[in-house]
Amino acid sequence: MERKVCPAEHCSVEQLGVADEAHWVEGPPHELFERLRSECPVHWSRGIAQSPQDAGFWSVTKAADVHAVSRDWETFSSASNILITDHGVPVELVKGMFIGMDPPKHDRIKALFQRAFTPAAIAQHEGAIRDITMGVMNGLAGRETCDLVTEVAQPVVARVIGSFMGLDPLDDKPWADSINSLLGFGDPDLNPKGLEQLVAEDLPPMYEKCMGLVADRRANPTDDMLSVLVFAEIDGDVLTDDEIFAGFVLLMAAGNDSTKATYTSTMRALMEHPDQRQLLIDDLSLVPSAVEEALRMFPAFAHFRRTATKDTVLGGCPIKQGDKVALWYPSSNRDEERYEDPSRFDVTRNPEHQAFGAGGRHFCLGTALARLELRLLVEETIKRFPGMTLAGEPTWVLSQFSSQLKSLPVRLNG
Ligand code: HEM
Repeated sequence: MERKVCPAEHCSVEQLGVADEAHWVEGPPHELFERLRSECPVHWSRGIAQSPQDAGFWSVTKAADVHAVSRDWETFSSASNILITDHGVPVELVKGMFIGMDPPKHDRIKALFQRAFTPAAIAQHEGAIRDITMGVMNGLAGRETCDLVTEVAQPVVARVIGSFMGLDPLDDKPWADSINSLLGFGDPDLNPKGLEQLVAEDLPPMYEKCMGLVADRRANPTDDMLSVLVFAEIDGDVLTDDEIFAGFVLLMAAGNDSTKATYTSTMRALMEHPDQRQLLIDDLSLVPSAVEEALRMFPAFAHFRRTATKDTVLGGCPIKQGDKVALWYPSSNRDEERYEDPSRFDVTRNPEHQAFGAGGRHFCLGTALARLELRLLVEETIKRFPGMTLAGEPTWVLSQFSSQLKSLPVRLNG
């Protein structure tokens, strides 16, 4: 393959493989990204060490470039795949999701959901989401320790998205487990079978189970999000069963693996910075600002990918038609040109950020829901357990996409 390098003179990062697993064991490689931002902001990696079948890819690390690429869907398409690896979540499944489509089909499907996800529509759910959150926290009565990822975040977010999709609460955990192993496909704990077996053994029953729910909706229409997919009409056509399944997985994945990640990273940061936590304890109205700061510093998804539809130039680098381009949010959100002292966690900063994307067609559908869930989760945790401390070393999911803690052991009352 043609050798592509950053044209900057004396580039010292030419050999770096940004997505190589070794860099991601303890979450996103912030020092590596800092180096790229200063030495080679648009960088070519020749491949992915743990996935040798994958072609190389461009890394976009500065906020202005992430912004430009996100808004130019005609040059940077989402329709080939949205992950830098083509050997992870099956590409055919991704292509059935509207996040893996380009306009016009993308816009038409997304439009069907937008009314339900506006801030005003989502605000109607505040009471129900607070009840779900308090119910899970009530279950901790009498406990001294717990794991904040699996025992608080997971059941809350799974029930919230489960209620939007019209699922039985008893199915929350099985669905969450399936979605977690699909998104965390490279993590040996979340996916002990390995990718091939996961796809061969776990996806077919997920599909069948979803089709059972689809059949129920066809017989008895409901007002949940699954019915929106089932009865969607795009230019006179309904979605195929495969597209309905893909849309279901997209919403379940977005609902399960995003807010969970940000809530747990927020709580970890607050425990590690007691002065910042004290500011929230003294004034709960700072919680929304703290949430934005956590979204900036710990974006739940490390990247989304685009694929160049034609030859172009970005940051002085020659991007060829068909090249993969990764938008790295943990990097753009700590861009020194945008943020003063970007690695400092400051609950009063209330920053703009790119955790939900940088605008453009694929900007996150769930921002209002995520913000509401995060505010309620953080508020209730701080009110109930103001002295919470770490009770062990947190661990990360091994993933260059799903950027989240796998465990966060805490002592509830300090
Ligand atoms: C902390 C929480 C969340 C974060 C950080 C987050 C982040 C993102 C990002 C980065 C994108 C892609 C943006 C792009 O490619 O330009 C996205 C898209 C999306 N998000 Fe979220 N998200 C969160 C919560 C949610 C929730 C709760 C839902 C609700 C179901 C949701 C639904 C979606 C959907 C459906 C898309 C695809 C939109 C499209 O392709 O047009 N997200 N999100």
